[in-house]
Amino acid sequence: MLKELEELQRQAEAELSSAKTEGEFLAVRTRYLGRKGLLTRLLRNIGNVEEEKRPLFGMRCNEIKEAISGKIDTALAKLASLRREEVLLRDKVDVTLPGRTHRYGRVHPITRVRQEICSIFAGLGFSVVEGPEVELDYYNFEALNIPKDHPARDMQDTFYIEDNIVLRTHTSPVQIRVMEKQRPPVRILSPGRVYRPDSDISHTPMFHQIEGLLVDKGITFADLKGVLTSFLKQLFGEDTALRFRPSFFPFTEPSAEVDIRCVMCSGSGCRVCGQSGWLEILGSGMVDPEVFKNVAYDPEEVTGFAFGLGLERIAMLKFGISDIRLFFENDRRFLEQF
Ligand code: DAH
Repeated sequence: MLKELEELQRQAEAELSSAKTEGEFLAVRTRYLGRKGLLTRLLRNIGNVEEEKRPLFGMRCNEIKEAISGKIDTALAKLASLRREEVLLRDKVDVTLPGRTHRYGRVHPITRVRQEICSIFAGLGFSVVEGPEVELDYYNFEALNIPKDHPARDMQDTFYIEDNIVLRTHTSPVQIRVMEKQRPPVRILSPGRVYRPDSDISHTPMFHQIEGLLVDKGITFADLKGVLTSFLKQLFGEDTALRFRPSFFPFTEPSAEVDIRCVMCSGSGCRVCGQSGWLEILGSGMVDPEVFKNVAYDPEEVTGFAFGLGLERIAMLKFGISDIRLFFENDRRFLEQF
């Protein structure tokens, strides 16, 4: 049996010296040292060895076992380190390359103007309410005292979705929705998107407005003037000159448009203000009694004023932007200036 043992060792070492891959080394381990391995089997049959030779046989078995398993371990470790090195070489990182910079988002100029206006009016006690962009004809026109076939509808070209459903042409319908649900006093601001089929250097089919409405007992035109004056001076600067110009809107009576002194030429006349020295900023007026009747408010009991303005126009004037389409192109070179 001892001879058999020595023969086994030679055989194992021959196999080891021709093994190259991890799999081959592992196979040798299983073949000789595994639970049913050749060496294991010999050792298990130690009872067949003559008694006085048994200690020697056992010792040799263990020596061979250790020799083989040591060689396998060394070979496997060497293979692993080779593989690690290969991976390191393949995935080499060039630490001298410049890093990747992150681009930061900015608040869009329209959003900035909206936030600024909402915060000015929050200081005057107005809260923000939003309404739907797909609106019933009733809220967009009818309830605002603009009946079907009334010439006032021509003031606002309209995208129709169905006969009685439109993309809202202004934020004024939110006035009606709020008053239908809430008894006076009312003090709300309503920003949002509005739609009109228009497209040129100062019109886009979608743009933004803010609507304001204040209703209470004893509200007069002086309140309208006071609130709008305070608002526009906070928005454009304390020294901004204003003028209130008579106008017409179906939902207000009397109505006024508010102009500020041209921010480009300070009033001397330029292309932006059409040589007039003034810039039209918002529409406003005392809520028409007909509108109050539509929401079951008693015009003998309460009065109020409303106003509406376009955010793109304000942003263009505040930031000196000459083409409205820039707001919607999402060109980062433009947006990153704000
Ligand atoms: N809705 C008007 C428009 O889109 C703006 C407007 C004018 C709103 C006068 C008002 C107002 O509330 O009183 O042109």
